[in-house]
Amino acid sequence: MNRRMVFLCLVVALTLSGCGQDGNVKVRPAKKGQITVGFSQIGESSLWRAANTKSIKHSLSIENVRLIFAVAGLSREKQIADIQGFIRDKVDVIAFSPVVENGYDDVLREARQAKIPVILTDRAIRTSEPGLYVSSIGSNFTAEGSSAAVWVKGEFRTTRKTVNIVELEGTAGSAPAVQRKAGFLEGLGGDPRFRIVASRNGNFSRPEGEAAMKAVLRSRRDIDVVFAQNDDMGIGALAAIEAAGKRPGKDIKVVTIDAIHDGLIALSKGRINYIVECNPLIGPQLMRLIKDVFLGLPVPMRVDTEEMVFFPDNVNDYIHEREY
Ligand code: AHR
Repeated sequence: MNRRMVFLCLVVALTLSGCGQDGNVKVRPAKKGQITVGFSQIGESSLWRAANTKSIKHSLSIENVRLIFAVAGLSREKQIADIQGFIRDKVDVIAFSPVVENGYDDVLREARQAKIPVILTDRAIRTSEPGLYVSSIGSNFTAEGSSAAVWVKGEFRTTRKTVNIVELEGTAGSAPAVQRKAGFLEGLGGDPRFRIVASRNGNFSRPEGEAAMKAVLRSRRDIDVVFAQNDDMGIGALAAIEAAGKRPGKDIKVVTIDAIHDGLIALSKGRINYIVECNPLIGPQLMRLIKDVFLGLPVPMRVDTEEMVFFPDNVNDYIHEREY
């Protein structure tokens, strides 16, 4: 397969177009005038997140949307309070990137009671109750994890020995951490040669990724691969690998997710071997959804973002245009 053409199966998918979560078409009465949106962001701690925020703020501002923006500081409780504030403010649309998958049903019922449509961005939630949100936009995290595993299997396809893998996991209970893990396992396909010998939480952060990897390398040195669920933890792991006297990308292969500029630089230097993109620039797609919801038009239940994968072969074609 031509590697430049290896796009993940994450192409824009306007699935279930026009349907709500329960399969019924959700059409709200059309409104007029300036749209007010309440948006709750997870936190401000990374370049990925900053790019996501910038994209959303920019897309809404050029459409003259009045934005009430809140930052949850990685706290679900703070985020729920933010959303309750938006409900009190009687915003037209609520959008938020859920810190974790569970625990939002009650506040979403409050929003539904107040007839305020909710759009999930970036991360999704788990709920058994249909109709708590009108649409969800973001990456296919399971496909990202699976793509990482398929690369690992390809890289070690001729090996006869066991391949020891360290997994650095993101925020516990968050959709990307849960789904990337599931996708990675699915991608390994139960092949007994590939063994996850350690799974450590690195909370999607560089220092925590570094600390987690250092702890692993203190207890064992026979590591072949690091699968970091985002670039930041992977970049942290590079420092830990070097501190242990090993060469990242050579003695220990490193596979990550996101494709921020720092990650692409490390890839171009051979310190990271493969990166699956997770695209934070979802502002334009979110703005289209907000408009349609405001106008009472039917919206797709799920919008996947368009993403690709990076190797040493193609990274130099993209590294200069990466702004985050
Ligand atoms: O939800 C997207 C993930 O969250 C990104 O991979 C990560 O960098 C961020 O913390």
